[in-house]
Amino acid sequence: MLTASLVIDPAFVVGPVRRRTFGSFVEHLGRCVYTGIHDPEHPSADEDGFRGDVLDLVKELGTGTVRYPGGNFVSGYRWEDGIGPREQRPSRLDLAWHSTDPNTVGVDEFMRWAKKADVEPMMAVNLGTRGVQEALDILEYCNVAGGTHLSDQRRANGAEEPYGIKMWCLGNEMDGPWQIGHKTAHEYGRLATETARAMRMIDPDLELVVCGSSSSAMPTFGAWEATVLEEAYEYVDYVSAHAYYSEKDGDLASFLASAVDMDHFIDSVSATADAVRAAKKLTKRIHISFDEWNVWYQHRAESRPPTGDDWPVAPVLLEDRYNVADAVVVGNLLISLLRHTDRVHSASLAQLVNVIAPIMTEPGGRSWRQTTFHPFALTSEHARGEVLQVAVDAPTLETEKFGEVSALDAVATRDPETGAVAIFAVNRSTTESLTLTVDVRSLGDVRVVGAQTLSNPDHTWAASADDATSVLPVENGTAAVSDGVVTVELPAVSWSVVRLGA
Ligand code: AHR
Repeated sequence: MLTASLVIDPAFVVGPVRRRTFGSFVEHLGRCVYTGIHDPEHPSADEDGFRGDVLDLVKELGTGTVRYPGGNFVSGYRWEDGIGPREQRPSRLDLAWHSTDPNTVGVDEFMRWAKKADVEPMMAVNLGTRGVQEALDILEYCNVAGGTHLSDQRRANGAEEPYGIKMWCLGNEMDGPWQIGHKTAHEYGRLATETARAMRMIDPDLELVVCGSSSSAMPTFGAWEATVLEEAYEYVDYVSAHAYYSEKDGDLASFLASAVDMDHFIDSVSATADAVRAAKKLTKRIHISFDEWNVWYQHRAESRPPTGDDWPVAPVLLEDRYNVADAVVVGNLLISLLRHTDRVHSASLAQLVNVIAPIMTEPGGRSWRQTTFHPFALTSEHARGEVLQVAVDAPTLETEKFGEVSALDAVATRDPETGAVAIFAVNRSTTESLTLTVDVRSLGDVRVVGAQTLSNPDHTWAASADDATSVLPVENGTAAVSDGVVTVELPAVSWSVVRLGA
């Protein structure tokens, strides 16, 4: 049995809990859009063809923003294909995923869906095969009130009011050789700068995201951010970060410590952005949009795109089935994002439906929650107010990938208005449970309002359409407070939330 302790003090605030930390991502990829969010034949489909069961799950997940339409897809996308009368929209080859896109869903449909889902849209422009003009065109279509060719086209297409989309991604993963229109850091930095400058001529208050690295393992990681920001710093607000994790070769211990890499990623990008800031003698800070993160088993059979002459519409792609350990890692990655709320102002779990997703659907049939759904939904529900620094004293575990790591990872939030506190904690040990004590004397008189833990003796258990409920977060009856100290037992390979209140 391991033991660890935490100290929480409401005076040590990292920054606000941001709804944008709980963002997600809808890409034209596999079955995310077609038969995912959009399935006109489904019994729950509304007048626009959107699945009502999926909309309910998206709300239950507590999603803040949704990034659209890609991803790798956006680097070959012609947004105009997806507007106007459906029967006149062209089908196009999607080179990124070797598929055909019928363009049944485009920007107007997505914006209607985002309204119904009550999420903030985050739009990406194509800087792979396209450039400044096309970025200006979609911005005009979406955000200009009227009286111009494209804004009047939007109105004619049924959206009288401008969409007022604030957040815009300047391309996607342009550092990746797999990206259509891949560029060097210098080439991309110039294009992103000129695109941003021009977009700000239409609306100076946009929030613009420049592409950072596709992973911390990219050979250009660090140098890419420095070069791009040397060009673009003055014109953008965020630099993006993308990271996917998986258990490799049965090394569960390293996998459970994946948040160590996310911490390193965020700290390194922050330091790089600050170095550019110092050299440029500026006061403005660049924040991080961690707009793709998740567990992703990239080499599974269902992750292989079609090839040759086969260009299917909405093929089964990247439909990972997540187990309990995957959910524990997702919960831990959210802890890392919250801990960095001073720097990470936006994040997107990639993706939302069917494609490496917390929500799964059958075409025309059932929908269900994967294991990863639960830590995300509970964190989104209970993280309120401010993120607090926590002082952790915990034993370490040896991992092959990261060396010694803390057995416990945790973060706390506190709502200054209600005094409600939530402690999110992960026991990374693969074998031993951990007794956690939390010194909460500085909070005054508090009681345990609730505690939930996700774990299972078989951490490889995964949800399916037939059984999505055998393993769910359960009430952790060990959580108790006495003399200003909370005690709770955390099983091996587990994620928990402990809630305190007056
Ligand atoms: O989310 C799946 C893919 O991962 C995205 O299209 C791309 O941006 C990333 O490489």
